[in-house]
Amino acid sequence: MPPLQPGLEDNLAEHIERVLLNEDDIKGIIDDLAARISGDYEGKRLLLIGILKGAYVFLADLARAISIPCEVEFLRVSSYRNMARPGALEVLSDLSMPLEDYDVLVVEDILDSGTTLDFMLGHLRAKNPRSLALCAFLDKPSRRSVSVEADYVGREIPDAFVVGYGLDYAQRYRNLPYIGVLKLEE
Ligand code: IMP
Ligand code: MG
Repeated sequence: MPPLQPGLEDNLAEHIERVLLNEDDIKGIIDDLAARISGDYEGKRLLLIGILKGAYVFLADLARAISIPCEVEFLRVSSYRNMARPGALEVLSDLSMPLEDYDVLVVEDILDSGTTLDFMLGHLRAKNPRSLALCAFLDKPSRRSVSVEADYVGREIPDAFVVGYGLDYAQRYRNLPYIGVLKLEE
């Protein structure tokens, strides 16, 4: 059953079956991640690379909770989910800078099958950063088909399709301030 598509006048909250992480939960997760990252990267040249579009909200909160200096960049990758040929990923907007002097932390909204991040990490590894690590706000380990582990995980969640806090369904729901499970059509 596909999820509901919101009409332009709908209240988005009415499309949510249940809230998985509310705003307080999210704040707690961000503070924990930021404290660990700030400690681990002290004295290093930290570069946060957000994967667009999904990571934009998470990265904005995480970066503001990190207490050490860091730089911020973004990468955009094609979504294999909307394509005829699964697995054919490509970088749509690449970094123009060298990464050799940076300790890179990839910031992603959710680690699902692992396909996207496996591809992105390979792409970035080829640029020879000083170090390369991964921070995913959400992780659905039960869905993994490619072996990828995140160094920092906000919260492991069960196999449900979630939206909000940057995550979309058909480009909608990114602006919900919490993580919710979508209602399915009756
Ligand atoms: P993967 O390549 O299968 O790991 O999928 C990663 C991408 O799929 C994420 O960056 C999201 O953009 C999207 N995705 C995976 N699960 C969800 C979900 O539950 N809600 C919204 N987007 C998702
Ligand atoms: Mg994404």
